[in-house]
This record gives sequence, structure tokens and C-alpha cells, in this order.
Amino acid sequence: MEKATKKSSIFLIGFMGAGKSTIGKKLAHRLGLTFFDLDKLIEAKAGCSISDIFKFLGETAFREMEQACLQSFQTKDHFLLACGGGTPCFFDNLHLMKDNGLVVYVDLQESVLFERLSKAKKIRPSIVGLAENQLKDFISKQLKSRMSFYEQADLTMSGLSINVNEIVEKIEQFAH
Ligand code: S3P
Repeated sequence: MEKATKKSSIFLIGFMGAGKSTIGKKLAHRLGLTFFDLDKLIEAKAGCSISDIFKFLGETAFREMEQACLQSFQTKDHFLLACGGGTPCFFDNLHLMKDNGLVVYVDLQESVLFERLSKAKKIRPSIVGLAENQLKDFISKQLKSRMSFYEQADLTMSGLSINVNEIVEKIEQFAH
């Protein structure tokens, strides 16, 4: 009984550019869950963009805001939260997620991440201004260092071939 309640919420994790928000909206709609985007919530609370938070307050302040925003989901239910790429890798965020819902990892190969991120550098403070080879190197190193967190997800789904029915089936099997 407790497990079913706990698993009626979903945390989507994965690298920047893996498609967490796009997939998350579709999945939430299909599962009848309320969709939230953690970055958007942080921006609304701070009254400025993630880029400005990094620029004027620094990453440490951003991570504290991110943690606080995530903690507010401990008292919510029936939601799907698309997290930021770094969310599960700081503080005890991953445990908080695992204690309060189903953690789903959106997995995407390095080459596709590179293609996507090279077109969307401006809105992402950790990669803005990187040349192509620097971006490749950044993705490769950061993906390796974050993999041990991503791999602790309850379920993994491909960010490339999105089959909502298949994912829903996996989620339902896990939750029951
Ligand atoms: C970050 C990913 C971003 C955002 C911030 C930091 C990261 O979210 O939270 O720029 O450290 O990987 P997306 O994964 O939604 O781009």
C-alpha cells in the first residue's frame, strides 16, 4: 500500500539535453500526473533566469535553491517532476527522490547530447561559450562523473526512441 502511494509520483533525471521536459510532459499527460519542471520553478521563485542565478549568485547558491525546491515535493503527490541535469548529484537529493517517488533516468548517447547541446548552449550556464571540442570534452567528463548517480534510478528509458506506451507499461509494472 505504502509503495503504491510513494510510486504515484515520478522524478525524471538525466543529462542536459536528454529531453526530460519534452518527454516528461507527454508522460505526465498520459499518466494523469501534474507536470513540473524544476528549473522553471527555481526561476519563478528567484525571479530571474538560471543563467542569471549562476552569473550573479554562483553555482553553490543555485544548488541550494534547487535542493530547497526539490524538498518542497516531499509533501506533494501525483506529479511528474523533470529535474535539472545535476539535481541527483548534489546533497542527498537522489535519496529524497527515491523516498518520494519513482526515479526514471532518461538515457541518451554522448554524440546525440553533443548535437543537441551545441544548438542550445546559450541557455545553459555550464556550457555557454564552449568551443566544439571543449563541449565534447565537457559532456564526456561530466557524463562519466554523473553516471554513478543516474544509474541508481529505478528505471531507465531511452531519450532517443520514445515510446510512451512502453514506458508507461514499465512504470506500471514497477509500481505494482
Ligand atoms: C544543469 C542542468 C540544467 C540546469 C542548470 C544546471 C546541470 O538543467 O539545472 O543549468 O548541472 O546539468 P537541464 O538538464 O534541464 O538543462
